[in-house]
Amino acid sequence: MTGTDPTGTDPTDAADDAPTDGKTLWHGRFAGGPAEELLAYTVSLPYDRRLAPHDIRGSRAHVRGLVRGGLLDGDEAAAVLAALDTVESELAEGRFTFVASDEDIHTAVERRVTELAPAGAKLHTGRSRNDQVATDLRLYAKEALVAVAGRVLGLQAVLRERAVEAGDAYLPGYTHLQRAQPVLLAHHLLAHGWALGRDLDRLLATRDRADVSPLGAGALAGSSLPLDPVGTAEDLGFAAVFDNSLDVTSDRDFVAEALFDLALLGVHLSRIGEEVCLWASDEFGFLRLDDAYSTGSSMMPQKKNPDIAELARGRSGRLIGHLTGLLTTLKGLPLTYNRDLQEDKEPLFDAVDQVVLALGALGGLLATSRFDTAAMQAAADSPYAAATDLAEWLVERGTAFRDAHAIVGEVVRRALDGEATMAELTAAHPALGPDAAALLEPGVSVTRRTTRGGAGPGPVADQLARFDALLARDRARLDA
Ligand code: ARG
Repeated sequence: MTGTDPTGTDPTDAADDAPTDGKTLWHGRFAGGPAEELLAYTVSLPYDRRLAPHDIRGSRAHVRGLVRGGLLDGDEAAAVLAALDTVESELAEGRFTFVASDEDIHTAVERRVTELAPAGAKLHTGRSRNDQVATDLRLYAKEALVAVAGRVLGLQAVLRERAVEAGDAYLPGYTHLQRAQPVLLAHHLLAHGWALGRDLDRLLATRDRADVSPLGAGALAGSSLPLDPVGTAEDLGFAAVFDNSLDVTSDRDFVAEALFDLALLGVHLSRIGEEVCLWASDEFGFLRLDDAYSTGSSMMPQKKNPDIAELARGRSGRLIGHLTGLLTTLKGLPLTYNRDLQEDKEPLFDAVDQVVLALGALGGLLATSRFDTAAMQAAADSPYAAATDLAEWLVERGTAFRDAHAIVGEVVRRALDGEATMAELTAAHPALGPDAAALLEPGVSVTRRTTRGGAGPGPVADQLARFDALLARDRARLDA
C-alpha cells in the first residue's frame, strides 16, 4: 500500500477547473467551446449510459485508493462517496439531469459529483478516462458474459428435457440434406446441446481474460502520484492487475473475443433456427410450433410462420458484422488510446442484447413445440436408409467393405429402377438373403448404432449421462 505524501503540489487545486454545465473537461486549454457538430458526432452518452453502475463502482474504488495514497483526506472521501451514492440513485430513479457537455457517462458522473461535493474536483486525480473506460467495460463484460452463459445453460436444459422426453423416437439423419442413416431424435437434440456447451466454455474463458484491472494506468503511462493499482484491482474484484499501462489502455482483445464468442454462439443458434424452419415446413412436417411462438400471415389465413427461427438465423449476420467491424477498427491503431476505441461499446452491447433475446425466444420455441415423431419415423423407415447396415452385415461375414458397398449399391439401383422392392431384392440376393432383409424392417437400423457417441439407444443413454455431468459442472461454475 502506498501511503507517501504527494509532492506538495495539489494536482487538483484549481477549483475553477471543476467542469460545470457547458464546460468541457479540457476547457482550460481551449480558448473556445466545442462546435455543435463535434459534440453531435463524438458523443457516446446515448449508449455508454449503460456503464453507469460500473463507472460508479470504479470511482468508489478509485476514491478509496486515493485515500490510501494520501491524495484525499477522510472528509473529502466521505463527501465524494456520498455524492456518488446520490448520483447512483438519481441515475437509477431517472432523476439524473444530463447536460449538453456530458459527452459520455464518465464526464456526466464526474460533473454531477463535483456539483454535489467540491472535493469531486479531486475525483479524477491520477486517472484518465482511458483507464476508466477500460475498467468500466471490463466490469460490464465480466457480468454480461456470465449472464449470457447462464442463458446458454438454460437452452441446453431445454434441449436435454426434450431429448429425454423423445425416448426412442428416431428420424433420418442427413448429410448433404439427403436422408442418410436413422438417428435417435434425442441424439440430434443433444448434438446442439454439446455445441452450446463449447459456447458456454468460451464465454467463461473470455470472462477470465477480461478479469484484469486497468485502473491506475492513467492516460497511458501510469502516474507520478502514489496510486494503488493493486489495491483498487482487489477492491473491484478483479483477479489480476495490468502489467503494462500502454497495453491495458489500448487492449480491447476481451471485446473482440466476446464478439467472437457471441458470433459463434449466434451461428449455432442460426443453425438450430434453420432446422426449425425445415422441420416446421409442410415438406418435412417434423415439428409443430406452438401458437405463442409462431406468427401468422397478414394475408394468407392458413399460414403459421417460424419467425423466431428465421430471425435467429438472420440476426447471426449482424453478430458476425459486429466482430468484423471491431477487428477492422482495431487493426490499424497505434498504441495507446485513440478515439476509435469508443467504437467498441455499441457492438458489444448489441451483441449481448441480441443473443440474450435469441436464447430466450428459441428456448421458448423449443420447449413448446410438438415433435411429429410419426412423420419422423416414416421418413426414417425408408429401406434405403438401412443400406449401410446391409453393407456392414456383409463385412461382419467376411466381405471387404468396398465389395460390400458395391453389392448393396447394385441392389439399391435395381430397386430404384423398379425391378422389385429393396426388401425383395435383398431377400433373394445370394450374398444377402432373408436375415439381411430383416435389417430393413422399420426401427431396426437405428438400434444398430452401438458405438460410443453413436446415434442408437445404448450410446445415447451413455451420452445423456455425460451431458448431465457437463450441465452440472457448468452450473457449478456459474454459481461460483
Ligand atoms: N467515451 C470515450 C470512449 O468510450 C471515453 C474515453 C475518452 N478518452 C479520451 N481520451 N477522449 O472511449
